[in-house]
Amino acid sequence: MADTKVYRASTTAPVNIAVVKYWGKRDAKLNLPTNSSLSVTLSQADLRTLTTASCSTANKDDVLLLNGEPSDLTGARTQACLRELRDRRAALESKDASLPKLSAMRLLLVSENNFPTAAGLASSAAGFAALVRAVADLYELPSSPTELSLIARQGSGSACRSLFGGYVAWQMGSRADGLDSQAVEVAPASHWPEMRALILVASAAKKGVSSTSGMQQTVATSGLFQQRIADVVPRNMKSMEDAVAARDFAAFAEVTMRDSNSFHATCADTYPPIFYMNDVSRAAVRAVEAINAAAGKTVAAYTFDAGPNAVVYYLEENKDLILGAFYPLLEKLDGWKDGAKGLKSTVQFDEAVSSTITSGVSRVIMTGVGEGPQKTDVYLVSEDGKPVSTSA
Ligand code: DP6
Repeated sequence: MADTKVYRASTTAPVNIAVVKYWGKRDAKLNLPTNSSLSVTLSQADLRTLTTASCSTANKDDVLLLNGEPSDLTGARTQACLRELRDRRAALESKDASLPKLSAMRLLLVSENNFPTAAGLASSAAGFAALVRAVADLYELPSSPTELSLIARQGSGSACRSLFGGYVAWQMGSRADGLDSQAVEVAPASHWPEMRALILVASAAKKGVSSTSGMQQTVATSGLFQQRIADVVPRNMKSMEDAVAARDFAAFAEVTMRDSNSFHATCADTYPPIFYMNDVSRAAVRAVEAINAAAGKTVAAYTFDAGPNAVVYYLEENKDLILGAFYPLLEKLDGWKDGAKGLKSTVQFDEAVSSTITSGVSRVIMTGVGEGPQKTDVYLVSEDGKPVSTSA
């Protein structure tokens, strides 16, 4: 009898923000980087993608719905992920004839973020990590998170780090086939659970130059970039691993800020130059410096990805100082949690810094270090194979 069953699996996956940045590909097709990188996985209570992967013989084509809208699945990167996952399922099916032939069925993938797209946060890392994890669970693949990171990497480089919680390294690897370019856990979230992040959203606009094309231009034209990948990043990776192991915030913060500065310097050294940071970003840098000067030690660290949003890392024990410095400037905005409301620290910012932040930041996100992908029984595909929405 024909198999008409709808098979389903759901997972959530987190966003990660690098403290040693991935910037540059040595192989664009396999998405192999020119340097290793290290990130902090952020809590899924605040930022996560929920994806249900389903398949049945009734599906006519592979379909992806993202936040309720049909989304393109034909891109080479997505296709590479789906092909690898199907190949692994097919290998299991060929060894065990009792397994249903899921690899031959078309997929319905339904995905939702719990944060507004208008937050201007790159969601591709969480998106590809959730897609790969959900399909791997649907196919009951015995693959470890590191094995799945090799697949997610091909969707989007930074996605490979979202297969783990806590503190995560993407080892660049040296093989031409990329089989050693994978993510590993440096330390679980429980090793250093006090890590917090305040995100200052400076622009919700889609970024001017995408990371993919920006990094290609940097590789092709920047001389400074050569020094970054040969010297700066290897040193930063080592210092960062030591700082995380020792839970040394001052060291963690210095490497984070230096590495962000180094990455943005190579962007400025790209020809023609690429500018991701803007006046609001630079005001956030000055604000963090003022906080650290007032504290007499390094209690906050800024970092910026391929856009102007500032991510400020700090420890829970210093929350009154950090949140109390920003809250009075941004109290009207969405995103503050109860612990921050009404806080006012003694840190004084220059008038120009205060006014740039007040006028340029559009929302805040208060979050912290968190766990990796979680299997869930919340489904975005019904038992009879139809998309459902949790937000409707
Ligand atoms: C600045 O992972 O978005 O955020 O592999 O081309 O999809 P692709 O690039 P992507 O680049 C992220 C760059 C970064 C730094 C980082 O996350 O390490």
